Amino acid sequence: MRDLIDAAKAARARAHAPYSKFLVGAAMRDEQGRVFAGCNIENAAYPQGWCAEPSAISHLVMAGGKRITEVAVMGNGDTLCTPCGGCRQKIREFAAGDVKIHCCSEVGELIRSFTLDELLPASFGPENLV
Ligand code: THU
Repeated sequence: MRDLIDAAKAARARAHAPYSKFLVGAAMRDEQGRVFAGCNIENAAYPQGWCAEPSAISHLVMAGGKRITEVAVMGNGDTLCTPCGGCRQKIREFAAGDVKIHCCSEVGELIRSFTLDELLPASFGPENLV
């Protein structure tokens, strides 16, 4: 878990969040054990900004990753930074319900871990479309 948290922390340091000042880092492990990280990227046209999680997912997909097997997220200080609703659904696309989402403080201490099922119960996913 430590490599994942360290990657999220390094990504958070690159966050572009001049408007909210809420810096977020996220890291995702793929089915090969590889770790991909991303930060939130805000925009002067506010709605055009995006979260750290899709930044990380984008890197995972572009490297050929197919599944998300573990996630770490951190925001400012030691506030509990769980993925927002939209990000939970984006993670769901590539993750099973038992995948762990580790919410950490900005210095990398684990605050609380959830499963995706806990954060997004009775979810809609790719299986619903087959
Ligand atoms: N943010 C994330 O990056 N991930 C989340 O799951 C929650 C919110 C970002 C979006 C925005 O740049 C800032 O945090 C404040 O909402």
